[in-house]
Amino acid sequence: MSDQRENFSRRITSFFSSLSSAVGLGNIWKFPVMAGLFGGATFILCYFFFTILIGIPVMISEFIIGRRTRTNAVNAFDVLGKPYMKIAGVLGLIGSLFIVFFYSSVAGWVYSYIFKTISGEFNELSGQTIQQAGEASAGVFGKLLNALWAPAGWQLLAIAMVAVVLILGVKKGIERLAKILMPVLFILIIVCAIRGLTQEGAVEGLKFMFLPDFSNFDSAVILSAMGLAFFKLSVGTGTMTTYGSYFTKNTNLPGTALKVCFSDIAVSLLAGMAIFPVVFSFGLTPEQGPSLLFVTIPLVFSKIPLGTLFMLIFFISAAIAATMAMISLVEPVVAYLSSKKSFSRNKAVFVVTGAIAVVGFLTVHQQSFFNKLSTFGLDGVFASLGIKDFFGFFDYFSQNVLLPLAGLLFVIKLGWIVNEKVFKDELTNEGTFNLGVYALWLFIMR
Ligand code: TRP
Repeated sequence: MSDQRENFSRRITSFFSSLSSAVGLGNIWKFPVMAGLFGGATFILCYFFFTILIGIPVMISEFIIGRRTRTNAVNAFDVLGKPYMKIAGVLGLIGSLFIVFFYSSVAGWVYSYIFKTISGEFNELSGQTIQQAGEASAGVFGKLLNALWAPAGWQLLAIAMVAVVLILGVKKGIERLAKILMPVLFILIIVCAIRGLTQEGAVEGLKFMFLPDFSNFDSAVILSAMGLAFFKLSVGTGTMTTYGSYFTKNTNLPGTALKVCFSDIAVSLLAGMAIFPVVFSFGLTPEQGPSLLFVTIPLVFSKIPLGTLFMLIFFISAAIAATMAMISLVEPVVAYLSSKKSFSRNKAVFVVTGAIAVVGFLTVHQQSFFNKLSTFGLDGVFASLGIKDFFGFFDYFSQNVLLPLAGLLFVIKLGWIVNEKVFKDELTNEGTFNLGVYALWLFIMR
């Protein structure tokens, strides 16, 4: 019962499209922020460990299910096994929507920073002391967050971009953009990393990233590294199942997953190299959390030669990454809805992006009446989890509840319910090449 659908046209575009989903604000925002908060190298090592141990096998599994069933992420659960497993697919889709609700706010901030950099809003920082410039930079960010229309407008622009690409479709939209923008993104981020590495005092930043200090190793580091591994590789919500369902028959699934993972790690490390050396060279530390990207980056980049140009390149890369990742979060929902008779693809895109614009609006004003859970009498319920607003709510529940739950059901299904021959056939493209690690993979899944 596979859907009427478009597919990616070549093996290489299957790779670029999956990579365009994996690479996102996760690399350029979450990864440096979390590495900054959790002690650098220790966290990074831990994150590599989970990426390899869990991320890659789950990604391969999603590709297998997708390509085997050639249907959307919900029906994929039905076709291969037991209908009640469809709930796992639905949880995954809800998880992706929860992510877009807050991701679109951050994407909007990134868009607005491109504009701010070009219009020279950070120019005055270069003549100020570090302290003054820090306050001025925080002021610019605070003004954006508290403005009435600006953040919502930028968020809407980001959502509109997603809608346009999705309407163009799988081949003309997703595949074509990924094929062009992924190599461009790589070049841009390498340029930024070179700028970081040639900064005087870059060694401190590199030490922070690569010399582990196990004294700060604890369960919080492990849990957040694991959460990031799932989020980074876009696994657990059906995104990779959906993209896998567009793969060509001759795509090597384990090989593609490996390439996506390692390229994705490379982008994160390059982003780290663009940021940490510069931060350390000004005697600052990277522990401030989410504002690292929006306060510290403009602060330090305004102080280095050609900094404005590199900052522009940096935020353009972030915008490319964020937009392509958002597309991959929305596509599975669109693919699911448009498999229903009552929905054309265009109608599905309008309904879903419209809903995202409405709910996403709740998260965009950090201090507003709308973002606060107390407005809806929900604050007491979530206070014990430290959640005060919708932004935190969607972030917390997608990463800590929906993704792990959907991921778990998924792995149970794959490890125990589906028959082994299906896997072997998909993993080896019907035996056209050999795969020694099959037993290991099944072991990890189980
Ligand atoms: N991987 C993306 C990032 O790092 C985010 C993302 C896209 C995602 N699609 C996903 C996360 C599906 C979880 C599930 O920014």
